[in-house]
Amino acid sequence: MQELSVRHLLGIKDITPQDIQLIFETADNFKDVLNRPIKKVPSLRDITIANVFFENSTRTRLSFELAEKRLSADVINFSSSSSSVKKGETLLDTVNNILAMKVDMIVMRHSSPGAPHFLSRHINANIVNAGDGTHEHPTQALLDTFSIREKLGEVAGKKVVIIGDILHSRVALSNIFALQKLGAEVMVCGPITLLPKYIKELGVKVELDVRKALEWCDVANVLRIQLERQQMKYFPSLREYTLYYGIDKKMLDSLDKEITLMHPGPINRGVELSSDAADSHHSIILNQVENGVAIRMAVLYLLASKTA
Ligand code: CP
Repeated sequence: MQELSVRHLLGIKDITPQDIQLIFETADNFKDVLNRPIKKVPSLRDITIANVFFENSTRTRLSFELAEKRLSADVINFSSSSSSVKKGETLLDTVNNILAMKVDMIVMRHSSPGAPHFLSRHINANIVNAGDGTHEHPTQALLDTFSIREKLGEVAGKKVVIIGDILHSRVALSNIFALQKLGAEVMVCGPITLLPKYIKELGVKVELDVRKALEWCDVANVLRIQLERQQMKYFPSLREYTLYYGIDKKMLDSLDKEITLMHPGPINRGVELSSDAADSHHSIILNQVENGVAIRMAVLYLLASKTA
């Protein structure tokens, strides 16, 4: 049996194109399972997984929990806002106490970049990074590229533009790594103040004009403005951002080719995307969410097999 080259999924940077293909092929099988009347398999019957979330989440936390339950794992959920972290307990003490209850895998979201990497040096359980600050969100990039493959047949050779707040986005960095490993051409587009200074060193094209970016691409992955991670003002107002970078259906329909519209969620409707664009035939936003469960089942299953 083929296996992953890693025992934790900390970031897309650390995995190989072969790992990504293996995750996709495993997710194809789990997607078939999810379309059956009985959507459950016994694969992780003996495994206990803790979802440890130090930051808010809707899609990622629910998607991981559902993936775990579909694999028949035992699941516990931890949210820092209702925990003893509020009484001063450290990250390592918190996780070691969870592991003392015979937990095999940790899925963790944390606001500090590198938090899951730190943990991986101190504990034995498998760790899946569910988003670490502005750094990486590997399962989001896997479900995004899997959704492009599903819609367009393959990722290699496709032109993908990531539009918006690249500076504060873990989704952007993980997507850049995943798309490049799979042979896509990547562009980033946004106000110059929301593009990292090092961005060209990642081998991506840079475009400041959203119309030109849409004319270039096959796929536009639109990001939200991450106001909660911004320490200062990067543009005059949200209204002005929408005026220059907001995408609506009229704009998409006026292009001389069909493009695919993506968004990792949560959407700020009326800011980066109008409702008529988000809900249009161009959009595969809810397909991304659906594919997230199969991708996370594949990641958990392959990491658990690594321990065996
Ligand atoms: N895409 C994403 O990570 O969404 P949540 O923050 O709701 O998990």
